[in-house]
Amino acid sequence: MKRVAVIGVGLTKFGELWDASFSQLFVEAGTRAINDAGIDGTDVDALYVGNMSGGRFIDQEHISCLIADYAGLTPIPATRVEAACASGGLAIRQGVMAILSGMHEVVVVGGVEKMTDLSTERTTQTLATASDSEWEAFMGMTFPGLYAMMARRHMHEYGTTREQLAMVAVKNHENALHNPYAQFHVRITVEQVLGSPLVADPLRLLDCSPITDGAACVVLASEERAKEFTDSPVFITGSGQASSSIALHSRESITFVDATYNAGQEAYARAGRSPAEVQVAEVHDAFTIGEILAIEGLGLVERGEGGRATEEGETAIGGRIPVNTSGGLKAKGHPVGATGVAQVVEVVLQLRGEAGKRQVDADVGLAHNVGGSGGTAVVHILER
Ligand code: COA
Repeated sequence: MKRVAVIGVGLTKFGELWDASFSQLFVEAGTRAINDAGIDGTDVDALYVGNMSGGRFIDQEHISCLIADYAGLTPIPATRVEAACASGGLAIRQGVMAILSGMHEVVVVGGVEKMTDLSTERTTQTLATASDSEWEAFMGMTFPGLYAMMARRHMHEYGTTREQLAMVAVKNHENALHNPYAQFHVRITVEQVLGSPLVADPLRLLDCSPITDGAACVVLASEERAKEFTDSPVFITGSGQASSSIALHSRESITFVDATYNAGQEAYARAGRSPAEVQVAEVHDAFTIGEILAIEGLGLVERGEGGRATEEGETAIGGRIPVNTSGGLKAKGHPVGATGVAQVVEVVLQLRGEAGKRQVDADVGLAHNVGGSGGTAVVHILER
């Protein structure tokens, strides 16, 4: 496909942010991205915003114009994009398609979520609306519960060990130590993961991504317009999106996320790349098993080998294919609507050589965002 340039990126700190409102978070990330791009508001043709559930988290719908208004971007078209935890990745894809269609030349894409104003119980219920409400949530199923079943089955089919799951969390917490925007700056051990409170057997507290407030933003431009603003853009060279059954019980396999596979195949084909050429990846580790399923579905490791590859350090910084250098959803945090955009921000920082102590050597990167337990997946390939 034709390339689309990422000319600016911006993040807020991720965490429990009591002193910032939903729109303030977006404006902070957006201002950073616009300043980074060296443009001003009058250059922006359109705004896309990933957000899962403003209505339930903060009693606010109609967030597209809310954000355009607070960001001073009216009257440009502003569009909200929703696909549960894949809302941010999908918003990026909408921005890419808007530019490739020729409709727009410079587009701001952001993602935002404010989750910590609710109790954990109500947050869990809100997140569970991204499952099949009739067959899963109404029966008491939660996201930790769904991923626990995937983990248990993966352990049964492939011999993945409880310790290997823990090693995903240990690695991602280690990476987050070097990410100033991350929610957690705490080194953890396998023993601590195994000793943390049980959430949904076999997953424990330290296997789970946290509940997070935060926003992320990128500025996209056509290749022609990008030259006006920067000599060193990062390009989105491939985009893929796929859907699958929303309910886990309808899938042929619960140890292979077919939407991840299909979105990855589309993104690789559009970029003219293979999994072997990817040198850094941000993947959807909402739970530790999620990272293992992601790297297998994306072909970064063989099917069933995710646990072993993690244990052998292949996915660590300095390993064969560093995964979640930002700390991932696990330790950087997971403000659901912002996550897919924040993943692209991290890959851009890596490709620009601006990732500080977590820097890896990469020309080709990948971002992978999942909605629900795999009903939606979005994959982007980025290159410098
Ligand atoms: N990882 C590491 N530490 C965590 C954590 C996590 N996921 N969640 C909470 N903590 C820490 C808190 O910082 C706090 O530490 P402190 O005592 O030092 O301040 C402590 O654990 C207790 O926090 P609390 O907020 O009381 O935890 P909780 O029991 O309310 O929530 C979970 C814990 C795991 C239930 C919650 O984080 C969760 O639901 N995560 C999954 C979110 C999710 O499903 N996202 C969508 C995926 S598709």
